[in-house]
Amino acid sequence: MSYTTLLASLENGIYTITINRPDKLNALNRDVFTDLNLALDEIAANPDIKSVIITGAGPKAFVAGADISEFNALDKNQAMALAKRGQDTFARIEHSTKPIVAAVNGFALGGGCELAMSCHFRIASDNAKFGQPEVNLGLIPGYGGTQRLVQLIGKGRAMALLMSAALIDATTAKQTGLVNEVTTSEELIPYTRGILEQINSKAPLAIAGCIKTANAVFDESIDGYALEITEFGNAFDTADRKEGVAAFLEKRKAVFTGK
Ligand code: COA
Repeated sequence: MSYTTLLASLENGIYTITINRPDKLNALNRDVFTDLNLALDEIAANPDIKSVIITGAGPKAFVAGADISEFNALDKNQAMALAKRGQDTFARIEHSTKPIVAAVNGFALGGGCELAMSCHFRIASDNAKFGQPEVNLGLIPGYGGTQRLVQLIGKGRAMALLMSAALIDATTAKQTGLVNEVTTSEELIPYTRGILEQINSKAPLAIAGCIKTANAVFDESIDGYALEITEFGNAFDTADRKEGVAAFLEKRKAVFTGK
């Protein structure tokens, strides 16, 4: 698969997607959204892809936001369509059955912070900066940021960031729970790959069940505890559950097939 605005490579089951507009600090324009949706199709369809890293090109930015240069051409309805497309794309990331992790290598502002928050979890380099500066433009976040920021760091902290447009550094992002770990810039990708190699050695259907049930916490239309019972039962019936239990009892390493 080739893309206009993304670099992509598949190594050892890990598909690394690099948003590649470094001259514009990887701002999310229409082409990036087209490519992200193509990449999500590829992730779902390609059995060799076990998990995904999303990162940004260059030393400075993960993604510095939606592409502001596209805004003036939009009327209200077109702006709502833009927000809907962003939300739909990021919902596909959030609900991917394969793990998708953000490796945040610099500015993650506006749509960049929203993209990182839609991933299943986040690792940041020590030069990363996070924020939702849309109020500087007379706007609010439109790609799910008002919802996911509250979910991840709590209402009070989220309200302060949303209203002040303040940026927080990687250490503060870790303290608030926005990112899991902070590394050096050099270690960011190797460290994130290490976590995904560990996850890739587990049973894929069980991983998908964890993603689905954890996401259900934030979906009022779903009884998460009831879903957990159903997914537990579904997992129980898989070949990988039988292999995992047999391997434990036989004191050997399980070999999972995703069945
Ligand atoms: N949309 C479009 N272009 C963007 C962009 C965005 N969100 N963020 C940065 N760029 C472009 C700049 O216009 C500039 O392009 P140019 O060289 O053609 O003029 C280039 O990327 C480099 O950015 P620059 O502002 O010169 O870098 P900086 O180091 O001085 O500042 C930021 C970095 C991130 C603080 C600053 O770029 C910024 O505030 N960006 C917008 C952040 C934002 O509001 N995001 C939310 C959008 S809803």
